[in-house]
Amino acid sequence: MGDGKPKRVLGLVASPRVLGNCETFIKEISRHIPEQHVLRLLRLTSLNIRPCRACYGCVMGNPCPEDDDIQFLLDELAAADAVILASPVYYLGANAIIKGICDRGFLFFSILEKTCNKPIILLNFFGIPERIGMAPQMLETFAMFLGMSVKASLSIEAALPGAALMNEKNIVTADHLGRMLFSSGSIRPERGCPFCGSQIVRIAKVDYICTVCHGSFAIDAIGNFVKKKEGGIMGPPEHMLLHREWLRGMKKRFQENKKKIIQTISGYKEDGEWIKPPSRTPSSRT
Ligand SMILES: Cc1cc2nc3c(=O)[nH]c(=O)nc-3n(C[C@H](O)[C@H](O)[C@H](O)COP(=O)(O)O)c2cc1C
Repeated sequence: MGDGKPKRVLGLVASPRVLGNCETFIKEISRHIPEQHVLRLLRLTSLNIRPCRACYGCVMGNPCPEDDDIQFLLDELAAADAVILASPVYYLGANAIIKGICDRGFLFFSILEKTCNKPIILLNFFGIPERIGMAPQMLETFAMFLGMSVKASLSIEAALPGAALMNEKNIVTADHLGRMLFSSGSIRPERGCPFCGSQIVRIAKVDYICTVCHGSFAIDAIGNFVKKKEGGIMGPPEHMLLHREWLRGMKKRFQENKKKIIQTISGYKEDGEWIKPPSRTPSSRT
């Protein structure tokens, strides 16, 4: 950055809908970014992202055995100067592609030093007021495990395509977000986790646990949030890479205990009957 080259803004569209709210709103924000930039758009739902095989190979420094589009996405994230991620709310969560990508998150370690502290805007578009479920949490989790700096995590009501752009208030928001992307500012929710700002918490015995950063906090008699303990996930890359060391230790523990593990589980091999859907031919769908 700062070399006179236009900045690279990566717009990640987690909706299959062409010219839907996710796509058009990212483009609207881009129109308000004062810095010279190129907007590179990627429709996440068109990517071939396979499920993680849980082989832990990448954690040990080996290439991922899945030959799909994940490395392409990681390269784009590493090369971007800023990211705008937009997802529709589907069944009280973000589009499933977000979870699919997060499930490959051990691979995030390989680009963490490049993505760390880069700005990201997170947007959810929903059709029914208050039915956003855990969608913001899913996008915030994606950003956190890449060590990115969340400039805003917003949920915008927009059921029909173009609805977000038809509301003047949202155009003002897009203008604000565009100007903010490369600035030092950010939008923090009025009431959110005192560590990371997420508004989705788990209720523990006495305290509340943030479902994103896992920091714990209490609410005092006048409604203020009181920090208790940091969650230990967020931090500089050196800190986040400690988790990779822990995972490497798990792989070692697996090797050490392999005999006992095999003895314990192998007796279950023949139980039950595995079923599969019938194979499809192109004409089987009428
Ligand atoms: C399969 C499906 C599930 C949906 N589930 C929800 C939901 O749980 N809550 C909600 O508020 N809107 C829900 N919606 C509405 C979308 O979130 C909304 O239309 C959004 O603007 C779509 O963004 P897009 O135009 O970028 O595709 C759902 C839409 C679809 C197609």
